[in-house]
Amino acid sequence: MPTVGILGAGAMGAGIAQVAATAGWDVRLIDVDPATATAAITGIEKRIERSVAKGRMTCEQGKTLMQRLHASVMTDLNNCDLFIEAIVEDLNIKVAAMTPAIEVLPESAIIATNTSSLSVSELGERIGQPARTCGMHFFNPAPIMKLVEVVRGKSTDDALLDRVADIAASWGKQVARCADTPGFIVNRVARPYYLEAFRCLEDGVADPATIDDAMRSIGGFRMGPFELTDFIGHDVNTATTRSVWEQWDRPSRLSPSATQERLVSDGTLGKKSGCGVYDWSGDSPVCVLRPPQDGRTASDGLSGPASEFCLKATIDSDSAAKASDAQRIVFTRILLAVLNEAAWAAHDGVAEPADIDIAMRAGVNYPRGPFAWSQDIGESVVSETLRALDDSVDDGRFSPPG
Ligand SMILES: NC(=O)c1ccc[n+]([C@@H]2O[C@H](COP(=O)([O-])OP(=O)(O)OC[C@H]3O[C@@H](n4cnc5c(N)ncnc54)[C@H](O)[C@@H]3O)[C@@H](O)[C@H]2O)c1
Repeated sequence: MPTVGILGAGAMGAGIAQVAATAGWDVRLIDVDPATATAAITGIEKRIERSVAKGRMTCEQGKTLMQRLHASVMTDLNNCDLFIEAIVEDLNIKVAAMTPAIEVLPESAIIATNTSSLSVSELGERIGQPARTCGMHFFNPAPIMKLVEVVRGKSTDDALLDRVADIAASWGKQVARCADTPGFIVNRVARPYYLEAFRCLEDGVADPATIDDAMRSIGGFRMGPFELTDFIGHDVNTATTRSVWEQWDRPSRLSPSATQERLVSDGTLGKKSGCGVYDWSGDSPVCVLRPPQDGRTASDGLSGPASEFCLKATIDSDSAAKASDAQRIVFTRILLAVLNEAAWAAHDGVAEPADIDIAMRAGVNYPRGPFAWSQDIGESVVSETLRALDDSVDDGRFSPPG
């Protein structure tokens, strides 16, 4: 039976263990705190029992799956085909924790890290295994989220990456390959979905509920940017923005939102603190963040281009026809900011357009991949509307690459 060793039994390690065991792999789950690994396996057992109760798997299948999960120690890694590191996001701690594992692993074992923001290449160098180290970036919760970003370090062996992509696919995941760059694909290309929404609010174009509604109804997004950031937590979301923005040399496109950072400093982190952009304490969320009274008018003159863009870009022409002027402008600004970021990511060598499309659909449930969407809209409409947006701002954030 193929065997995977997983280091770190927290949210991600436990989720990945469940995915691997479900796919028929033997799992050795290790944590610095052995009780955490045991608790993770108990947690998986509860989820499996619920699946059995719902008829999603038989009792026999559930039992067989559980027999593949072992709370383990380092010496149990001696017959692993794959090793996945999923411990705290700190390079020094990862290096220190992985070094004893490497001494035990077979030389043929693939070494993968689930890091979201550290350099896979640097980690590979630091543990002395640059050719056989890659990124396997799962999304949370791993058993539910369909995407794995397979990250190529500077020296990662190509054949090894093919094997990793095959393994992830055999675990039921969609694979997007990418280079070892800050934010990989999803955590970079998704940034303007949140950031441009905050800018629309700061410009006084619309209030958050209207902006969320525009993205859901005209764009077919499952959640609007404000309700989504309330779910993610503004502390987590701004930390990712800051990290990606800094590491990409602070482009205006990815510049953090002062309004969102104020939410964090005020302790209004979103759903987990009871309040963020919305107040979540009642039966249904109530929007509490208002546009400024003295909003700038950066969107003046955009009604015409936005109407035309909406007709081509909407996934629901009835909604686009019924939408207000402000909603069409909001949708145009946010969607084009995302499409432009995807173009920049491809230009910067992050990934091929096809992989970016897979990542945004499977990783954050976008209704279409950015490149497929641009193609459906038509390149000339995209570039003309982008030019109109670029003319309306003074920070160059809508400038296309090239
Ligand atoms: N949570 C997410 O949404 C998410 C998504 C994708 C990737 N990631 C990445 O996955 C990794 C783990 O994140 P998480 O959310 O599961 O964290 P977590 O805090 O839930 O779990 C980390 C686990 O690592 C264990 N640990 C710490 N030091 C250790 C050591 N020296 N040896 C063995 N175990 C050790 C801890 O006891 C803990 O159980 C991070 O690199 C993170 O960036 C997280």
